[in-house]
Amino acid sequence: MSSDLSRESIEAAITGRLGRPLTFFETTDSTNERALELLSEGVSEGALVVADHQSHGRGRRGREWSSPAGTGLLFSVVVRPRTNEALEMLTTAIGVAVAESLRETTGADARLKWPNDVTVNDDKLAGVLVESRLSETRIEGSVVGVGLNVAWPEDDTDARHLSATSLALLREDGGPIGKGGRAGLLAAILASFERVYDSLDDPDGRAELIARATTLSAVLGRNVTVRFADGSMREGRAVALERDGALVLELERGGTESLRVGEIERLRTR
Ligand code: BTN
Repeated sequence: MSSDLSRESIEAAITGRLGRPLTFFETTDSTNERALELLSEGVSEGALVVADHQSHGRGRRGREWSSPAGTGLLFSVVVRPRTNEALEMLTTAIGVAVAESLRETTGADARLKWPNDVTVNDDKLAGVLVESRLSETRIEGSVVGVGLNVAWPEDDTDARHLSATSLALLREDGGPIGKGGRAGLLAAILASFERVYDSLDDPDGRAELIARATTLSAVLGRNVTVRFADGSMREGRAVALERDGALVLELERGGTESLRVGEIERLRTR
């Protein structure tokens, strides 16, 4: 599997502005960490860090993102948003780019589980971690990290245990992911993200992104439990995405609330 991901295959597949300069590692601690380092050294927008394996892959809320060598697509791209409006839409933008590219490249019914998971049949296929560096007066930049399960988990038992899935599990023959392999999928995601990212300073571009995220949502119309960082919870029915990507919940006790932080812990049937 690792032959479908190399410096050469990635350079050959990438067509746009995002993806250069490229840093490729067989193993590194975390592509987000490496990209944040490049960001602080002043690297240009579009810089891409890809690894076949991470020893300390980071997930949200201090969780670990683990993926055995050769079984994932793990990358981080540096962007330098010009406005706060663009900055706050990055998670939605990369989520839409990943889900739409997966749908086109693999045929998977990829959906968005607010705020940062890409799921198929409610199982997690990919996660997104955006980390930003802000000074008092300006946005220095952001690192947009994606971890996508290509061939891990390997079997249904692990997958059920983790509520996760992979492209290999989703394909009946467990074969490779199209002729471009991981490099082709990476290039498709970056091209799609570039188009969305370039529209984020424009209110119409942001409105279109929210419309696409709404269409792709695995959450809207369903009863959910949202957990916040302090452990508190909110229960309600997810009814809309706001213009900035916030999730609107119709609360069980009445009224609505717009959530800009938190994670969906439980999704119930429609
Ligand atoms: C999550 O679902 O909690 C987010 C997971 C994000 C994982 C990716 S893997 C590539 C990049 N580098 C990291 O250390 N994390 C992100």
